[in-house]
Amino acid sequence: MKCVDDFRLRLGKHELVPIMVGGMGVDISTVALSLEAARLGGIGHISDAMVPTVTDRRFNTKFVKDKLKQYKFNVENADKSVVKFDLDILAEATRLHVGSAMEAKKGDGLIFINCMEKLTMNAPKETLRVRMQTAMDAGIDGITLAAGLHLGSFSLIEDHPRFRDVKLGIIVSSLRALQLFLKKSSRTGRLPDYVVVEGPLAGGHLGFGMDWAEYDLATIVAEIRAWMQAEQLDIPLIPAGGIFTGSDAVGFLENGASAVQVATRFTVTRECGLPEKVQQEYFKATEDDIEVNQLSPTGYPMRMIKSCPAIGDGIRPNCEAYGYLLDANGSCSYIQAYNREVAAHPGERRIKVMDKTCLCTHMRNFDCWTCGQYTYRLKDTTRRNEDGSYQILSAEHVFKDYQFSKDGKVALPD
Ligand SMILES: Cc1cc2nc3c(=O)[nH]c(=O)nc-3n(C[C@H](O)[C@H](O)[C@H](O)COP(=O)(O)O)c2cc1C
Repeated sequence: MKCVDDFRLRLGKHELVPIMVGGMGVDISTVALSLEAARLGGIGHISDAMVPTVTDRRFNTKFVKDKLKQYKFNVENADKSVVKFDLDILAEATRLHVGSAMEAKKGDGLIFINCMEKLTMNAPKETLRVRMQTAMDAGIDGITLAAGLHLGSFSLIEDHPRFRDVKLGIIVSSLRALQLFLKKSSRTGRLPDYVVVEGPLAGGHLGFGMDWAEYDLATIVAEIRAWMQAEQLDIPLIPAGGIFTGSDAVGFLENGASAVQVATRFTVTRECGLPEKVQQEYFKATEDDIEVNQLSPTGYPMRMIKSCPAIGDGIRPNCEAYGYLLDANGSCSYIQAYNREVAAHPGERRIKVMDKTCLCTHMRNFDCWTCGQYTYRLKDTTRRNEDGSYQILSAEHVFKDYQFSKDGKVALPD
């Protein structure tokens, strides 16, 4: 029986352990986690979600405070169209975040950045261009285009000197999304270097409707693979979503996948950005505690642990400080939901908003516990401490378990 280490991912001149740790915003897939994946010969992801907030925490910058100060006058206003990101500051934050990862990188692996198109930031094109270009300036090895169709994203960076050397990939959940992307990007004369095929069991936002349970990752991968072979397209395919053991990964690798993207198993590692208290909630979760809901203002379904503070919370929209989900007209569906509840409950100090959540605020505070479907199996990947809590793992332990385990086994920590 084979293990993941019997396979290699070839990306240009790189030969890698075929394990990619997926991007997890907001700073759940930290620089530290990505560095471990790269040191061990695989691919790690940082995320550029809410990057000024992340640098404020890591480098003591004051980007969020300054933005709030600038737009404080607008806090009571339902119209957020004036709240804009300063592109120089966005670039500065991206440079700090990406630069710190690339300077510290050791080993033969690579560090990519996860860029979500749905972070529309009240100026979708301009902000996405700055995020991607600055990441390339700061030496990122690759960019994974996520949460969106990204039909114009290659065009936004085609003039960059690194456009042909940086690794570029896209996350899709259907053949149709891939076909659309390839058609629109072909104008730039460049194919993606890899395609992540994300199935319905993944964490974060899903590229499916609420009928997600009717889909199956292996079937989608097989369909995309057959089409690519017919079109003579030789692009590495990287399945993601519910690949919980090394043997699960081997199953995909034996069927022609070039690598796997995994995330949930790493949410309970020391290097992951989730606070330990939250990690214990991930360990404790049972299958019934996990749901796919429509609370995200992005419009995509999202998987969460039902008991997380983000669900039902009616905090005032925080767009003057954050505002990452404001569309090109400066609106976000949480603002409408919040205002509707305020109007329906005059004089009430604390209101509840059940149909949407202020994703920026709650992701920033680690109060939106998004997770993969198999989070309920995490308790089987570790030991209990004397006080009943679960032992937090090292990223190296989880990575090597994926790399070397056989027979569907999961190695417990020493
Ligand atoms: C906590 C968490 C946060 C995530 N955030 C993002 C994200 O910001 N962008 C993204 O493209 N995918 C995100 N994902 C999806 C992962 O990158 C990955 O593709 C998927 O979860 C893999 O499936 P697995 O978690 O079952 O291993 C997230 C997943 C988790 C568990």
